[in-house]
Order: sequence, then C-alpha cells, then structure tokens
Amino acid sequence: MKKFQVITLFPEMLEGVLNSSMMWKAQKEGLVSFELINLREFGVGPRQQVDDTPYGGGDGMLLRPEPLFAAVKKAKQNDPTAKVVLMTPRGERWKQSVAREWSQVDHGYIFICGRYEGYDERIVTLVDKQVSIGDYVLTGGEIPAMAIIDSVVRLIPGVLGGEASAEIESFSDGETLEFPQYTKPAEFEDLRVPDVLLSGNHAEIAKWRQENSLKSD
Ligand code: ADE
Repeated sequence: MKKFQVITLFPEMLEGVLNSSMMWKAQKEGLVSFELINLREFGVGPRQQVDDTPYGGGDGMLLRPEPLFAAVKKAKQNDPTAKVVLMTPRGERWKQSVAREWSQVDHGYIFICGRYEGYDERIVTLVDKQVSIGDYVLTGGEIPAMAIIDSVVRLIPGVLGGEASAEIESFSDGETLEFPQYTKPAEFEDLRVPDVLLSGNHAEIAKWRQENSLKSD
C-alpha cells in the first residue's frame, strides 16, 4: 500500500479532499493511505513557533528549519523509504508522465507544504524533489500537494476500476487531450449532440474523436 504523508500547517485543508470521492475509495480499498502531519506540533518553544523573520531583512515570515526537520524525521520513521517532495513554484513542472511514474513505484511520498512567504532554504537538504504545479504563486503548498496526490492516486491500478479507463482518456500518451463527450438527451435547448456520435458507426466515431482531440503545448 502506497503511503502519502503531508506536512502542513493546515491539515483541515486536505481532509475534505483526501476523504472524498476516489481518494476515499482508494483508502477504503487499502490501495493507499494518507497521513497528515501538523507542522505546528513541531513548533519551537512554548508558543510552538513555526516561522520567523528572514536574515538580511525583507517582508514576511519564513518557516523555520527545526519544525520542518522534526516533521520530516517523524514522517521518515513512519515510512523509511519514502521520498521527500517540496512544493514550490521554483520546482520542476508537474506533468502527467511523472504522475504515471509515481503511481508505479513501490515507495511512499512525504510532501512538504510551504506557507507564508517561504521557508528556510536549509530544508532542501532533506528533499528528493522540488515540484511546481505551474508558473503562478499560491499562498501555500497544500493545493499543489492535493493536485499531485489526486493525479497519482487515480492512476494506481484498481483505483478507477471500471468507472473510467486511465489508459484511454486525457493525456494518456502524454500530449493528447481528451475529445469532447456527450450524454442524453440528444437534443437539449436546441443544442444537438453531433450526428456522428448517434450514428452507431464505430469507425466514424473513432475518427471524429481523433480529430477532436486537442494537442497540448
Ligand atoms: N507553492 C506556491 N505556489 C506553488 C506552485 N505553483 N507550485 C507548487 N507549490 C507552490
């Protein structure tokens, strides 16, 4: 069973996502397990401080190294072979082919979610991979971690089951986006389903789908 651990100051942000829909089903069927590690529990001093001002000056607060190191140590005790992943807009851009690789390896992952204006750079000495979900800056790594976990877990054999085939849908070849699909009714407020899809002609339907799949950039 693949274990996904997430180090975060806001575990409640992930709880709903990881305990719903396919992520819930994947847990229930024993295919994955999720563990949320609250960084606050590893805070320094009586106020359990997790952040401080940057050396050299500047706005905002940075996550201190001690809580991050202690939280990673705890996560490694839970799962010694797990790889440590840091969510950062400076990381390598996430993509479907990497999601597929991660769904096939037999070790777990520990995600570190940055918050506030950043983190003490010394954390990168513990990190196996830095990942970005795109060239924009979010307020923290929680949403990126959820996106990555979702994209990996749905590819684990048995998670999608008969409900959809990960093989034939979007991005399965790494660059083709899924074709448009329609369901009943065939006509809705003057909007008609393309005739070819109602024709029963499988060769024509396959051709139409091929032509209407977009290439990603
Ligand atoms: N943290 C803030 N923005 C991010 C992004 N785009 N990708 C990953 N982590 C982030």
